[in-house]
Amino acid sequence: MSDYLELAQALAPQLIAWRRDFHQHPELGFQEFRTAARVAEHLQALGLEVISGVGKTGVVGILEGARPGPTVLLRFDMDALPISESTGLPFASVHPGVMHACGHDGHTAIGMGVAQLLAHTRARWPGRVKLLFQPAEEGLGGARAVIEDGVLADPVPDAAFALHLWNPLPLGKVVVQAGPLMAASDHFEIEIQGRGGHGAVPEDTIDAVLVAAEAVNALHHIVSRNVSPHVRAVLSIGSLQAGDAFNVISEQAQMEGTLRTFDPPVRTLILRRMDQVLDGITRAHGAGYRFNVIEEEYTPAVINDPAMAQVARAAAETLFPPADIMEIPPIMVSEDMSEILRRVPGCYVLLGAAPQGTTHGPHHNPRFDIHEDALPLAAALMAAMAYEFLSRK
Ligand code: NI
Repeated sequence: MSDYLELAQALAPQLIAWRRDFHQHPELGFQEFRTAARVAEHLQALGLEVISGVGKTGVVGILEGARPGPTVLLRFDMDALPISESTGLPFASVHPGVMHACGHDGHTAIGMGVAQLLAHTRARWPGRVKLLFQPAEEGLGGARAVIEDGVLADPVPDAAFALHLWNPLPLGKVVVQAGPLMAASDHFEIEIQGRGGHGAVPEDTIDAVLVAAEAVNALHHIVSRNVSPHVRAVLSIGSLQAGDAFNVISEQAQMEGTLRTFDPPVRTLILRRMDQVLDGITRAHGAGYRFNVIEEEYTPAVINDPAMAQVARAAAETLFPPADIMEIPPIMVSEDMSEILRRVPGCYVLLGAAPQGTTHGPHHNPRFDIHEDALPLAAALMAAMAYEFLSRK
């Protein structure tokens, strides 16, 4: 099976061409019409059964192996970000304000390559591969949309794998681990309701700015004083708006922020404490508040199944030197592959893709770029994980 690396290397020029085409024509979540059409066309040409319009713009390709067996799902995300590109690359985005700044252009190209590798070697593996090209991973609910559209039914996958090109790691390093990998994410909104008035007559007002300032302070003490230091959690307030004039005491203040956790009970505890803190502070000042956690935007933590992590590791060992296969402390960013992983045992892996030189930015940055040599490595790894799972059963 280790010839997946050779097969993928032979495909490298094609992988790079696909990736550059997607990079040049980025599309935001649920608008991946051109991308999805390219994917569907390629899968059809390979002889796969293709279903388009899954979760609005997703594409599913089903590939049957040489004999009956289990089903494995491989997931690739396709969406770009609302960022204006400043890489100066010859294949930079032609759509102002839209950019592939997370590597999903690479993921889509990798998925097309994996389809080709597995189609050309189908005589050697049993079962079925379900390739999911998912829309709208970037906080827009793409995973939920494809699940609601039945991607985890008929055939029901027995295992699921996905990969992210990961620039914080050098080219060729692979992260494969059981258990937590990425945090759960919440988006919350807070509104403080005071009573506005003249800046020189505070006794007639309830100052929403002052109440908000106390609330910001107190909210940041929740993690440090209510959560064990051995547990990972982050609360950040990213936005605070209040007031219109220098000499007017503000009637209202609005805040928004994010909470990152791994354990649902810790999430529940922090959200409950947030509400108690807001209640106490606003009550002390005679103000009111509204605290809203946007449930539709909740993304659970990425938790890898131990048995599937072992499958992924065995696949990685056929392609990479043991020293390049590593584990890392869980990271606080989130990823909606978790919606699939909490329903199907699976494993999410990271592959180092840091570009050469130092002029490039990190993920979600206008100067983001990937090392294109990571594309064949990723395609070989995804194909090998599917092969490893199917041929074990
Ligand atoms: Ni991403």
